[in-house]
Amino acid sequence: MPATETVPVIAIDGPVGSGKGTVSHRVASELGFRLLDSGALYRVLASAARTRGVSLDDAGALAHLAESLDIRFVAGDATTHPVRTLLDDTDVTDEIRTEQCGNDASRVSSSARVRDALLARQHGFRRPPGLVADGRDMGTVVFPDAQVKVFLTATAQARAERRHKQLMAKGIDVSVTRLSREMAIRDRRDRDRAVAPLKPADDAVVVDTTGLNVDTVVARVLEIARSRLAAAPFEG
Ligand code: DC
Repeated sequence: MPATETVPVIAIDGPVGSGKGTVSHRVASELGFRLLDSGALYRVLASAARTRGVSLDDAGALAHLAESLDIRFVAGDATTHPVRTLLDDTDVTDEIRTEQCGNDASRVSSSARVRDALLARQHGFRRPPGLVADGRDMGTVVFPDAQVKVFLTATAQARAERRHKQLMAKGIDVSVTRLSREMAIRDRRDRDRAVAPLKPADDAVVVDTTGLNVDTVVARVLEIARSRLAAAPFEG
């Protein structure tokens, strides 16, 4: 087995509604790579903290909880939920996808202790034949040596509309105006925090997905990935 550092990583970072979840999943399937949805780790932590009565402001207790959580990702239904998230063998896929949980996840993720507590777990996903890592700091902090780094953006309006559509498809009715306001708060918190802020790595390719459909974005990311991986051959 190759040393983990030689296993290729495609880091896909970006703000809420930039399309990175769907795109990361499709790119991983296309290449036969593993997938790390790092946001799901922060979401599960926030959800577990709520149910276990741990304050979202208690960094020490949250870090301790983060280290002890038994989180697993398993294959789900290809069309609805390709990946299901289990916490202690309980399926938490739906409950961690609420806007409330996303906002809670953003709050807990601003702590350096919490981020450190989740670091080794994230590194553990780097296994052959390769990894697509989706998050906010994949290319800057977690996998700074990733062979491919992509940062997806879109206008605030496009991202709010996209997120609105996703929620409506799940039967969750929330106004675009309210969604936009909440997304702006979350993005500001993720961007302005002192540790691992949301920002493109210096060597990331920034792709503006405004007005592009998912097929086009996937094709563009695959093109970037294939050309960078060809330029930086790896053992696999
Ligand atoms: O990608 P997401 O919406 O599931 O992420 C939820 C929150 O978790 C996000 O607002 C900030 C935090 N997060 C983070 O700080 N770093 C990551 N790599 C992924 C998510």
